[in-house]
Amino acid sequence: MFRAAAHAETVHAHAHLKALGEIGSTLENLKVAVAGETHEFKNMYPDMIEEAKAEGNKSAERSFVFANEVEKVHAELYQKAIDNLDNLEEADYYVCSVCGMTVENEPPDKCPVCGAKASAFSKVD
Ligand SMILES: [Fe+2]
Ligand SMILES: [Fe+2]
Repeated sequence: MFRAAAHAETVHAHAHLKALGEIGSTLENLKVAVAGETHEFKNMYPDMIEEAKAEGNKSAERSFVFANEVEKVHAELYQKAIDNLDNLEEADYYVCSVCGMTVENEPPDKCPVCGAKASAFSKVD
């Protein structure tokens, strides 16, 4: 039920973005994505990590540190797509169920962000 609702919310978000005229070319969308991820790992999450530390909230700190590290990877993946836009190759993507680490082609033996085993990664269809 929640997955169905989440899918419906994605449909709504796409419709809202379209109505706002915020869906551009692939290159424009990738540039916006790089900027968004970069804001997250340079400003948003570092501030949140500091707040969690100040509050002694280890669980929140860990969650924000994981997200911060993975946003860097997302920015790199988007930048790589920009750099190779005329010659993009298809790739499989895997996501770590512990930290969200996102990798191309094959899951690593050990997650470089959280240390989870390869079995923690699932392929994105
Ligand atoms: Fe991201
Ligand atoms: Fe991980």
